[in-house]
Amino acid sequence: MTGSRVDVLHGVNLDMLGRRDPDHYGTLTLTELEVKVKHFADDLGLDVAFFQSNHEGQFCEWLHRAAENTDGLILNPGAWTHYSWAIHDALEIAALPAVEVHLSAVDEREEWRRLSVIRELCVGSVQGKGVDGYREALEMLKERLGK
Ligand code: DQA
Repeated sequence: MTGSRVDVLHGVNLDMLGRRDPDHYGTLTLTELEVKVKHFADDLGLDVAFFQSNHEGQFCEWLHRAAENTDGLILNPGAWTHYSWAIHDALEIAALPAVEVHLSAVDEREEWRRLSVIRELCVGSVQGKGVDGYREALEMLKERLGK
């Protein structure tokens, strides 16, 4: 039996992990982070797929197709989190259980990072836990998907 599938979507500048401020984002590259998240998913019996884009429209188009392909979403949209109502609306269209993840503690940083326009559409939100936050998000989705 295959488990539920979760898509992990990374937005703008997340492909630059490894070159970004290690105090906030750690030292892993995105590929290294994805390997760890894949292991977490394997442990939990979930199938996982990854997507990253620096193009907001492409990110929205992925969300438009998400319901055809997956059961749940983990989103780290990067800076789009704080102002992209286009991603908010695309997530609403996707109508899937979603958890928002941020590597850094966004609520403890600059004022402008404290607003998340997607949080109201998410079943959970994890921040400031680095890569371990993704495990927590997968656990939340597993519970939610009930498989
Ligand atoms: C981030 C936090 C955002 O404020 C920032 O713009 C990012 C990464 C995080 O994972 O901590 O690019 O989403």
